[in-house]
This record gives sequence, structure tokens and C-alpha cells, in this order.
Amino acid sequence: MCGIFAAVNQNPVTQHLLTGLSCLSYRGYDSSGIAVIENGLIRRQRAAGKLENLRQLVEGNPIQGLIGIAHTRWATHGLPTEKNAHPHMTEEVAVAHNGIVENHHSLKLRLEAQGCEFQSETDSESIAQLITFHLRRGMSCQDALRVALQEIEGSYGLVVLFRQQPDQLYVARRGSPLVIGRSNDGYFVSSDENALSGLATQVYHLQDGELGRLSTSLFRLRDIQGNQKACRFVDFHQMHVDSGKDGFDHFMLKEIHEQPAVFERCLRQYLSEDQERLEYPIPGSILEKVSRLTIVACGTSFYAGQVAKYWIERVAGLPVDVDIASEFRYRQAPLDQQSLAVFVSQSGETADTYAALQHARKRGLTCLAIVNVVNSTIAREADYVLPIHAGTEVGVASTKAFIAQLTTFLGLTLALGRASAYLGAEAERALVAEMLNFPEQMSQLISQKSMYSAISRELRHCSNALFLGRGISSALAQEGALKLKEISYIHAEAYPAGELKHGPLALVDEHLPVIMIAPRDELLGKSLSNLREVAARGGRIILFSDKEGIEECRDFIVQGHALPPVHELLQPLQYTIPLQLLAYYTALIRGNDVDQPRNLAKSVTVE
Ligand code: G6P
Repeated sequence: MCGIFAAVNQNPVTQHLLTGLSCLSYRGYDSSGIAVIENGLIRRQRAAGKLENLRQLVEGNPIQGLIGIAHTRWATHGLPTEKNAHPHMTEEVAVAHNGIVENHHSLKLRLEAQGCEFQSETDSESIAQLITFHLRRGMSCQDALRVALQEIEGSYGLVVLFRQQPDQLYVARRGSPLVIGRSNDGYFVSSDENALSGLATQVYHLQDGELGRLSTSLFRLRDIQGNQKACRFVDFHQMHVDSGKDGFDHFMLKEIHEQPAVFERCLRQYLSEDQERLEYPIPGSILEKVSRLTIVACGTSFYAGQVAKYWIERVAGLPVDVDIASEFRYRQAPLDQQSLAVFVSQSGETADTYAALQHARKRGLTCLAIVNVVNSTIAREADYVLPIHAGTEVGVASTKAFIAQLTTFLGLTLALGRASAYLGAEAERALVAEMLNFPEQMSQLISQKSMYSAISRELRHCSNALFLGRGISSALAQEGALKLKEISYIHAEAYPAGELKHGPLALVDEHLPVIMIAPRDELLGKSLSNLREVAARGGRIILFSDKEGIEECRDFIVQGHALPPVHELLQPLQYTIPLQLLAYYTALIRGNDVDQPRNLAKSVTVE
């Protein structure tokens, strides 16, 4: 989603701005732009589409200066055109903004009545116009910005240039992250810490309600009322940024291949010395008190929560609610103080998940974050954090983060089972032993390229697909359907197979591919009966099951793929792999941009 990069430096910044933007591009964007102060004037270049378009524009018409701001936009208000791309500016001010100005309509009407002329359809332009309006009434730059921020409703991470102050960069935050990086030659600012790698030696995470002013050698921090504040930069421990595809065609494929190593890293992070249990950095006294869990997340992280619900209810005997973050805080659910609220987010910056965390904190719940990015806002604001250790995930459609979230949840399940005395030591030992061997089995599954390619040929020309599963596999079916729609653009729905007769069976005909996830568990027989109902209506069945399951259905399935036996609690991790790869190869054969699917963003920082 939208990304900000800015620099104030002793050396020209244009190249830094472009490099910064390319570090942010994995988040998903549809246009980009930069603004630099050159010879006392603000100069801007913007382009719709890929960053390469902006790069060519800047090469053809270079702009140079020691201070500049840059932005990748993911359209919310107005089409992804050049005119709507950031930075937005007037003669006096240039602004790059992440977040949403909720009262932009009334601001625009007010400013237009005063003679301001808007150039774009965006909400963000109202910030530039409002600051300019206050400047023209004689306010100083800092006051104009401060007063404008007090009038804005909504959220922002903001970087601002003023023509009057050609060596000062202003930054402000409310609800949308900004990190300031210090280097020997000046300061860099970004909405994503990764983009500061190789540039900054120390960082400061701007807090909500803070407003900063930066020059090459100085950083001054105030609150929105104008009171000075102290801040402490900390050493920057750079996350390892996977910059290349390591010979793979796409980041997504590379990240799928990394999964055995990710699983092992995550496991070993929490493995006890005797290798018999997983130990989590949450005090036993907290876990013992938990009477219920509320898991809150979006997208793939939400489906990880759905899988965890089945594990935790079964292994730890605790009731679990799983909520979509954008619904959670609005549905006024009665929350029990003994509940553990778990927020799952790869990025740790998803706006809805973060807002849900704030909501739960206000209600006095203990909050646990399961995140990949450990310095993220969600991680910083939770009471406890379980990092998933997946490493940087670049592909917009989440793969290795899902596996790492499941691995972390499985460990949490064991810890809760132990705390509630529901899980015996022997059962835990047996599972951990199997987990230690599991990476090898994952690798074997990943290597079966021809099988996934065959399924993708089956799906290539479809407009719809149905994913089915029962029990825990119904949660996995949802993630399978999400992966397929995200990158192949095939409409896919997921249903608990037992619910088939209550509606979706009406969709089944000889054109509809039905992907069934049926591992060997106590529901296998029932799943296969449901499958016969599909077969009786001519559906084109693709079955993932064990060897005997496939044999039993051989007569009526189009394709069947047998997965080797594993511990039942590891089945969701195992069956995830074919679902990811069938989505990948289907998207590939349809000629889609696998890593950056249309309309989607990696990190969704607006509500
Ligand atoms: C976006 C991404 C998904 C991701 C979801 C939640 O929609 O495209 O891959 O699952 O956000 O993101 P989070 O960072 O909170 O896990």
C-alpha cells in the first residue's frame, strides 16, 4: 500500500528517493512521485504505473536537490493517474501522505470557497491546500502545519516540504507509521523501516501526535500543541532484506521454497533444550488464567487464526473466537477480561488490526501480537509478542508468513494445553519429534512441480472454483480460495463440505472445478461422502487426500494427489503447500503478475 520515503542530506537526494521507493514497491502501488527543492523552488515528477515510468521521467528531466519527499500510491480516492499521484503541492508546500483524511470533503468545500483550486480527486491534497491557506494568512511554516493537523480528521503519516524553508523537512504522525533514520550525512524518513537499510545507523519511530522538523544536522520534536518533546534514537538492527529472487522466477515461488527453512527456524526459536517441548516467552501465570481466546486479523492472517481455533479448542480445551479485524471493534462484542486477545499480522501495520488492538487494550484485555515485523506498530503496542521469524516477505500473496503463523500458533496451542493441563507431556513430545522431521517432508511436496502444473492446466480457463474441506480443513479451504483469487483472478469460494447441500451444490456442473482437502482424520469418511454428492452432479473434482482416500475416489475424480502421512496436527501445514502452488502455477499460466497482483497491496495501512 502507500509508501513514504524522504531525505534531507548533505548530498543530492534524488537517487536515494528512487531507491527508497523501489524498496517500498513490494507493498503494492499504482503510481509514484517525488518532489525536491531545487534552487529555492519545489519541483515535482509523478507517473502512473510502475516505478520504471517515474525513473525514466526523472532521467529525461533530472531534478536535483538536497532535500526531497517521495511516495508510492495505492489508490483510495480517485483513479491511479498521474494527477492523483503524490506528492500533492501548491507553490508553497509539497506533501506526501499515508492514511485517510476523513473530512476532506468539507475541507475542500471550505477551501474552495476561499479561492483554493484543487488539482486532484484525492483526500490528501486537502492537507497541502490547508497548510497553504494558513501560510497565506501569515502563519509560520510550523504553525501552519500544526493548525492544519488539528483540523484534519482521520489518520496520517506525513512528510512536508516548504518553499520558504528549503533546508527543513517536516514529519507528522497519527495512526500511520513513520520511522526516522539518522546517518552521518543527514536524515531519511520512511513509512517502512526496511527502506532505511544500508542508510541509517539509528532510528526513531515517530509516535502518534508527534510532529518533527529535520535538517541535515538537527531533529526537533514537538507535540501537536507545539510543546517540545525529547526523543531517543536507538541503534538500527536491520532486518535481513531479501533483495533478490535467488534464481526463482518470482518472489512468491522463492518464498514457498523457503517454507521448510522458515518452519524449522520458527520451531528452533522456541524449542526447549531437551527438544521435547516449545517454550514461549509468556509467563505461565498469564497462560493459566486464560479462559477464552479472541483472535483478530485480516486476510491470510485471519485464516491462520481460523486454523488455530480448531487446534486450541481441541488440544487446550479453550473456547476461541476468530474475528475479522475490520468488524471486531464495531460489533460491540462483550469482551471477557480473562480473554487473551491475539492479533495476527505479517506486517504488524495493518490499520484494522492495529485499531482492533487499541480497542481491546481500552477494554483491559491482555494483548498478544503474532507478527513477522518485530519493530512494527502492533508489536510495539501489544503486551506480549511472538515473532514468527519468516524473514522479509515480498510477494503480496502471503505464503511463508502463513506457514510461520501456523507454526507459532501450534506452539501456542501446546503452551496453552500444558497450562490448562489438557495436554500430556508424552503427547507433546511425540508431536515435537514429528515437527523436527517435518521440513524434509515439506521440501518433497514443494518439489512436485509437474503435479501442480497439471492442476493449473485444469483451472486455466475457469471463471469459478469451489474449495471444500471439513473441520480444520474447512479453514484451510478458505486460505486456498483466497490464494487462488488473489493471484489468478479466478473467483473462488470456500465452504465447509457439510454445508454443501445448503446452497453451493446448486453451482455444481461439469464446468465447475471443486478442490477438496480431505486428509486422514475422523471426518475423512464424511468428506468423501460429500464429494460423491459433487460427483453425482458432474463436478470436476480435484482431490488432495492420502493414498487410500485417493484410491477410494479414483472413479469419479479428475485429479487426485496423495500426500504422505503426518501427525494430524501438522496436516494443515502440509496441505497448505499444494494449495499455494496450484494458485501460483495457475496465475503463471494465465500470464498474471504473480508478485504484485492487480489492485492489491502487501501492507494495508488504511481502514
Ligand atoms: C493484505 C495482504 C495479505 C495479508 C493481509 C493482512 O491484504 O495482501 O497477504 O494477508 O493484508 O496483512 P497482515 O500484514 O496484517 O498479515
